[in-house]
Amino acid sequence: KTLLHTIYPDFQLGVAINNSSYFESSSEYNSLLKHFNSFVFENSMKMDAMQPSEGEFNFNNAKKMIKFAKDNDSVVRGHTLLWHSQYPYWFFTDKSGKKVDKDTLLKRIETHIKTIAGELKGDINTWDVVNEVLAENGTLRESQYYDIIGSDEYIEMAFRWARESDPKAKLFINDYGISRKGPKQDGLYNLVKSMLDRGVPIDGVGFQTHINLNYPSVEDIRKSIKRFAALGLDVQITELDISVYKSDNEPKKEITEEILLEQAYRYKSLFDMFKEEAALGNLSNVTIWGLTDDKSWLNDFPVKGRENAPLFFDGNLKEKTVYTALVNPEELN
Ligand code: G3I
Repeated sequence: KTLLHTIYPDFQLGVAINNSSYFESSSEYNSLLKHFNSFVFENSMKMDAMQPSEGEFNFNNAKKMIKFAKDNDSVVRGHTLLWHSQYPYWFFTDKSGKKVDKDTLLKRIETHIKTIAGELKGDINTWDVVNEVLAENGTLRESQYYDIIGSDEYIEMAFRWARESDPKAKLFINDYGISRKGPKQDGLYNLVKSMLDRGVPIDGVGFQTHINLNYPSVEDIRKSIKRFAALGLDVQITELDISVYKSDNEPKKEITEEILLEQAYRYKSLFDMFKEEAALGNLSNVTIWGLTDDKSWLNDFPVKGRENAPLFFDGNLKEKTVYTALVNPEELN
């Protein structure tokens, strides 16, 4: 059987894993992992998982993934050093529950980043240093970081501390809704450009790319990749999935063969473009946000009770039409 990553030698093909037991050879998921040569945790390397209480770090899952990746000639993406969601309960407050001051928060950020990036030094190909720091209008998101720190200083320092801790890891800023032109993409562009001008060590931009059957278009995504590549930055597609719906709020419908075929064609045209951009040196990694449809975060979201099927494999671990589209497209005609 053709392994998917062998069709795309110009970029790493990754998948998000939601349970480290997948790496055990006894796991039913284990053989599917061979299609990929890059791995990221869907949740297990987020802030709450890595430092559940202050000063108590948990590296078990990260180290299992690193070992699996090494044994299988693959790489690991670290997701994510900082985020406004899935943070440990203590991070922004003191013991009495009061908001901490700027210096305390910066110190906590420094310790979090230096401990984790330092411990895993040399074993992480790319770090999402910060995740989703922008608001829809392109200004900085009004998160607890922003509320307490009051500027983009924490972003700049996060990148500097990450670089200091692991000089070889690529350092990325990751966000959604940025793969077509608009205020959010413009805001990101201005932010990374000013970071580059100030000598902040940033290597690339992660496009999450949670998309649907209709938009954004492949050409919009291509233009967006080129826009950031023109700044000398690397681009990675970090959380790709294609919902079988035509809009985020389309009501529940039957997921027919015809819809899965449409999805397969959309994946195929997207991957043709990725191949071209990777060959130009603009794109280094494409990661699918989950292995099997039944476990996708898009089931029940954002429409309650609505099933989705956005990934490469179904709940029976069988490859879907998208596999044929990528491996033997002529068979679809
Ligand atoms: O761990 C608890 C478990 O103990 C409990 O029994 C269960 C009951 O609901 O919940 C479990 O936690 C869930 C966690 O996933 C692990 O499965 C959370 O409720 C759930 O909210 C969480 O969702 C994750 C989401 O991030 C949280 O924001 C998704 O799996 C994950 O796919 C999603 O990933 C994000 C990226 O990190 C950033 N970009 C957007 C993307 C999709 O939202």
